[in-house]
Amino acid sequence: MFRIVAKKELAPRIKLFDVEAPEIARKARPGQFIILRVDEEGERIPLTIADFDQKKGTITIIFQEVGKTTELLGELQAGDSILDFVGPLGCPSEIERFGTVVCVGGGVGVAPVFPIARALGEAGNRVVSIIGARSRDMLIWEDEMRNVSSELLVATDDGSYGIKGFVTDILTGVLSREKVDRVVAIGPAVMMREVCRVTPESIPTVVSLNPIMVDGTGMCGACRVEVGGKTRFACVEGPEFDGHQVNWELVLKRSKMFVEEERIAMERGGC
Ligand code: FES
Repeated sequence: MFRIVAKKELAPRIKLFDVEAPEIARKARPGQFIILRVDEEGERIPLTIADFDQKKGTITIIFQEVGKTTELLGELQAGDSILDFVGPLGCPSEIERFGTVVCVGGGVGVAPVFPIARALGEAGNRVVSIIGARSRDMLIWEDEMRNVSSELLVATDDGSYGIKGFVTDILTGVLSREKVDRVVAIGPAVMMREVCRVTPESIPTVVSLNPIMVDGTGMCGACRVEVGGKTRFACVEGPEFDGHQVNWELVLKRSKMFVEEERIAMERGGC
């Protein structure tokens, strides 16, 4: 069992847990994820690691309550435990001195962008971060992102904070004003697809895919995505891929595959 040592509500239905998992904290790298199961009956869900503290032996996860499992998770309190918490899984982000890197985070996607932006800054890059949310109250980790970025730019859909518009509007402006060597984007699939439309092929654009996962070890095929015309398993070959090569149509189609089952689970109140 993995004890929740701290819980915070960052925004409506967006929660943060620090989870005691010293073995995972010791090995975790930016870009990796964990798979958790709330209880015996529960489904497994992947969550990208938002932070890790080797000294305290904790992993930070941030999630939005969007379905039955994340709602059950959100009901847990500090002191409660999570049944299974497995990781770190997936390949770490490529961290090198690239030059200028734009890190784009949308919604809860800001959380997994944070350790990547921090590591890129520590590696000597100029990090321009762009974060966005529907409205000001849904924006998370602004201060954290500012602390690890050379420059932070904010967009909200409704204009209640930062510029009114999308992260891609800001990105277009940044691309036209300075030379950018790499873009990292994490957020809703539609946002990542749009980021890849805005960036020219000459700028490597890395996205972190978050498909449905079951075993997380490359055995079940639940997480398959198509990249560069080839089937890839996001759990072991990702979750980060070259966004220009991703078949977004398929990603979006597969993400809606279990909408009906989710609706039934919510109605039943079970997992
Ligand atoms: Fe089973 Fe990736 S989750 S192969």
